[in-house]
Amino acid sequence: VAPPIDPARRPAPYGTEPLALREPLPLDDLPTPALVLDLAPFESNVASMAAHLDRHGVRARPHTKTHKCPEIGRRQMAAGAVGLCCAKVSEAEVMAGARLDTLLVTSPVATADKAARVAALAPTCRELLIVVDSERGARLLSDAAAALGVVVGVLIDLDPGTHRTGVTLGAPAVDFSRLVRSLPGLRLEGLQAYAGHLQHVHGFGERQGRARETWERVLETRHAVDADGAATRILTGGGTGTFDIDPGVEGLTDVQVGSYLFMDVEYRAIGGPGDAPFEPFETALFVLLTAISQPVPQRITVDGGFKAFATDSVRPELLDLTGVKYHWGGDEHGILELQEPSRPIALGDKLRVRVPHCDPTVNLHDGFWVLSNGVVSEWWPIAARGRGE
Ligand SMILES: Cc1ncc(COP(=O)(O)O)c(C=O)c1O
Repeated sequence: VAPPIDPARRPAPYGTEPLALREPLPLDDLPTPALVLDLAPFESNVASMAAHLDRHGVRARPHTKTHKCPEIGRRQMAAGAVGLCCAKVSEAEVMAGARLDTLLVTSPVATADKAARVAALAPTCRELLIVVDSERGARLLSDAAAALGVVVGVLIDLDPGTHRTGVTLGAPAVDFSRLVRSLPGLRLEGLQAYAGHLQHVHGFGERQGRARETWERVLETRHAVDADGAATRILTGGGTGTFDIDPGVEGLTDVQVGSYLFMDVEYRAIGGPGDAPFEPFETALFVLLTAISQPVPQRITVDGGFKAFATDSVRPELLDLTGVKYHWGGDEHGILELQEPSRPIALGDKLRVRVPHCDPTVNLHDGFWVLSNGVVSEWWPIAARGRGE
């Protein structure tokens, strides 16, 4: 009988470290559906984001919600990141367990059990920060920290208009910063302003205009909070959609970019400067599928559906093949409509498919098959898969 565990310490089923395959496999020999990380474009994306931010004197604080994979977090840190973001406390527990211990939890907590997990995790990290946005959450966190004799570093989460989390800009944020500074278990380190509703605004001009206007209001709030005596050290926010807009913002210390690593169908559709497509980063993630059945001549069925791809938005897209449209075919299947295929597809063929939305797609898989020079030699566990709490 396995020993009892507590929720914060349940082990990652495949561990946190890359596993080597006994024999390198050609891509087409992978068991499908297979989530594949294409190493060369992935490394190029990591390097080009790092170089872009360097040029602007801004650091990356990449979001691990995108990949949930310690090996990827390690590579982002090696490329100069100031730390890593985690969406949830349980993701931070996994990353800290893999010795990635400069972390920011970007969602607030509002219950004593989560506050206690944060307070317990803090002393095991080089730096653990978490956002706060309510009096209840801040008091619970302070009490939990005080009970353990620690002080937790916090950022005030500002609501830049997404209305998902965060304190209202202006006077409510100043009042809240005063409360946070009065709590003995907390140390106010800065502000988070993540404009999630702007990341996928189509058209660069529209996105830029709305992002700049939002940042102006955030900066007014920061000045007011600082004038009140807070002296915030950190201002963090931004994502892949505004990666080329945010770095000019006064006093912005770091950006929480995530999807740039992989790219997906949704992001490629938002449009870059001018009328150019949004292609500053390469497609580095795909799902390999197999054609398994052909009940009628105009269609062929592949072995990946709702359990292989996130279904919250657009459809998957075939890579290296035109004239073929993917339709959802249920939990385990996709149906390819053969409009004018640029090459014939036969039963048993392997097909590379671009993912619609990368983050929730990754969370459906146990690991990345890492492709380099046409062969797969490593499998990187998605150790924080399913850690949603
Ligand atoms: C708080 C926060 N920061 C950063 C990101 C990363 O955004 P992206 O994948 O668009 O780069 C997200 C994504 O949802 C997020 O929720």
